[in-house]
Amino acid sequence: MSNKLMKSPIPIADFDISYSEGDGPVYSMPPEVFVDKEFYEFEMNAVWAHEWFCVGHASDIPKSGDYYTIEVGEDPLIVIRDRTGSVNVLSNVCQHRGMILLEGRGNTRRISCPLHAWVYNINGELTSAPGLTDADEKVESFNIKDVCLPKIRTEVWQGFVFITFDEDLPPLSDRLGNLGDQLGNYKIDELRASVPLKMEAFDWNWKIFNDECYHCSYLHGGSWGEMYPLCLNSTDEMVKFNDIENGLVSYNLISQH
Ligand code: FES
Repeated sequence: MSNKLMKSPIPIADFDISYSEGDGPVYSMPPEVFVDKEFYEFEMNAVWAHEWFCVGHASDIPKSGDYYTIEVGEDPLIVIRDRTGSVNVLSNVCQHRGMILLEGRGNTRRISCPLHAWVYNINGELTSAPGLTDADEKVESFNIKDVCLPKIRTEVWQGFVFITFDEDLPPLSDRLGNLGDQLGNYKIDELRASVPLKMEAFDWNWKIFNDECYHCSYLHGGSWGEMYPLCLNSTDEMVKFNDIENGLVSYNLISQH
């Protein structure tokens, strides 16, 4: 994923109509936001390449060699526990000719490429390459130590595994501010993950769905809409860990009910 910061192809002022701090109506974002390829690439860069992301829970991989595979943005990754007990996140792409290395989840002592059988250890270091490292047919110009799976910057916070593709991003603790104190009574670090949910691709534009809940009292008025008694300007349903100075903004989906 490219780390060079891109600029929005849509002028920022064009978004003003879709945001209101007061009582005024809020209109849809510029149409390109929903369909434009160039804007999509900007978003991939601005969000996926420059933020921290939670990619699972360390309790999913309790033993050395336990792993699961995941895609973040457009990058296939392996989340794996090494022999020292640390959780590492590695590229799931063979450094030889780009084959995907592992699928699904499981436990392994080594990562073996299905295409030409290069073998990496669970820290991502190449340990053998048939025909290149065998004693009888060693290729002198090939140094096994030069090859390893790229390791993605990772931090584990209270059991949750976070990654970022941005080496210059401040530590996760800066980003989360005082969230740990706010959630102290929930003993988050003692939680264990249940069976992971597999999300399929949605056949609709998720931005339209996620953009607002103004419609909830009306379109869903006969069902769960009652949970949202016109939540415009209402503050009593805001969860308590909004801490804007520390960059924490919770999504307002907690109703007073
Ligand atoms: S692509 Fe993996 S060993 Fe060749």
